[in-house]
Amino acid sequence: MPTNDLMEKLVSLCKRRGFLFPSSEIYGGLNSFYDYGPLGVELKNNVKRLWWQSMVQRRDDVVGLDAAILMHPKVWEASGHLQNFTDPLVDCKQCKRRFRADHLLEATGSKPDLGTMKTPAGLPKVCPECGGELTEPRRFNLMFKTFMGPLEEASSVVYLRPETAQGIFVNFKNVRDTMRPKLPFGIAQIGKAFRNEITPGNFIFRTREFEQMECEYFCHPREADRWYDYWRQERFNWYVDVLGINKKKLRLRDHKRDELAHYAKACADVEYQFPFSGWSELEGIANRQDFDLKQHATFSGQDLEVTDEAGKKFTPYVIEPSAGADRATLTVLVDAYTEVEGGRTTTTESNKELEVVMRFDKKVAPIKVAVLPLSKKETLARPAREIFDALRSRWTCTYDEVASIGRRYRRQDEIGTPYCVTVDFETLEDKKVTVRARDSMKQERIGIEELEDYFKDNL
Ligand code: GAP
Repeated sequence: MPTNDLMEKLVSLCKRRGFLFPSSEIYGGLNSFYDYGPLGVELKNNVKRLWWQSMVQRRDDVVGLDAAILMHPKVWEASGHLQNFTDPLVDCKQCKRRFRADHLLEATGSKPDLGTMKTPAGLPKVCPECGGELTEPRRFNLMFKTFMGPLEEASSVVYLRPETAQGIFVNFKNVRDTMRPKLPFGIAQIGKAFRNEITPGNFIFRTREFEQMECEYFCHPREADRWYDYWRQERFNWYVDVLGINKKKLRLRDHKRDELAHYAKACADVEYQFPFSGWSELEGIANRQDFDLKQHATFSGQDLEVTDEAGKKFTPYVIEPSAGADRATLTVLVDAYTEVEGGRTTTTESNKELEVVMRFDKKVAPIKVAVLPLSKKETLARPAREIFDALRSRWTCTYDEVASIGRRYRRQDEIGTPYCVTVDFETLEDKKVTVRARDSMKQERIGIEELEDYFKDNL
């Protein structure tokens, strides 16, 4: 299937089935902002919950945090964001389109190094869209500004955080003082971040408002290389083992020395082979050394050092696995999308129809079980409702009594529901239901009394 076709179909399915809607759609939408619909919010919550389970709940050495989005402006001076968090922007004088100079340069096959902002050799001088003249590149700071309090003046400027990481660094001392963790230990956080991206796009891959899942793992400098190797592998494995992403479409890419930020000793990206852009970053794992804590110690005047066994003070190094919740959700959606030509089911009306199956891993599937009474009649609806009520106290379930059973199965396949429970007239006699599995389409008769154990074992 041509790659753009696939994305078009996925975007349309997401809208049609309530995963993602363009934001403020009744007003024509707001470019590159999206709202998660009833199924999308379940899916993304599952991704975040699985990350939290792996990174916090099941570990002895990581604690959680939820810091405020607006922070003291000095934070961004210390972190370097006020000065350096910029992209090189060029405008077309004719059609007024905007481009990132580094992207234009990459498209010519050259390696972007726009640090000095002097027009590098090879940077195209004409607009790739209309052939008009392009301006010289200029630095554009990606942070969103707003004002705190009633006066819109320089002293009341605050910024929406462009990453969640700084909320962790500025709470390093609070967490140490209250929880008394011993090195090595991590602080993890999930939360919104905002970047005024010049070229947002590719659905929820790059947006101006997004969610990050970040952990700052503090360790002794002499152990940093070992922990970096550990997290690099651990985070790759998470996408395969926990999210169930196809391993063949994932890779780890180590940054070359000249790609590294000035404070990073090493960095690797977990990449996925997206249909729209090829191999692209899902998550970065970086050895940030002691840069952040030292900067905050200098700017705040606080002591952020720790003491080792020999009584020697030092600033811990930081290994940072930094993932995007929306990018991970997009990966889950793209990876699950499957079309079956000619249809899988054999009821007359479904024959030869193209069927879409979202083959989500059971752990991430937004709905785990659909309860489907064969008829809307009260004799079947009552027991079906009772089963639905019992199951939904434990799993996210749905109840559907509209249309033929074949069509209802296909509706559930299209949103990736792993199991359907059908209540039919025999149920009234034998107290059994038909459980149909999404992937194998195998149907089993299971006693109503055994259903809960069945799903405990299988979900
Ligand atoms: N604290 C390090 C940091 O923020 P980053 O590579 O800029 O590193 C980490 O961001 C992750 O956040 C990315 O790998 C990506 O998954 C996600 N992310 C970054 N910018 C994004 C955007 N504009 N839209 C969606 N996700 C984004």
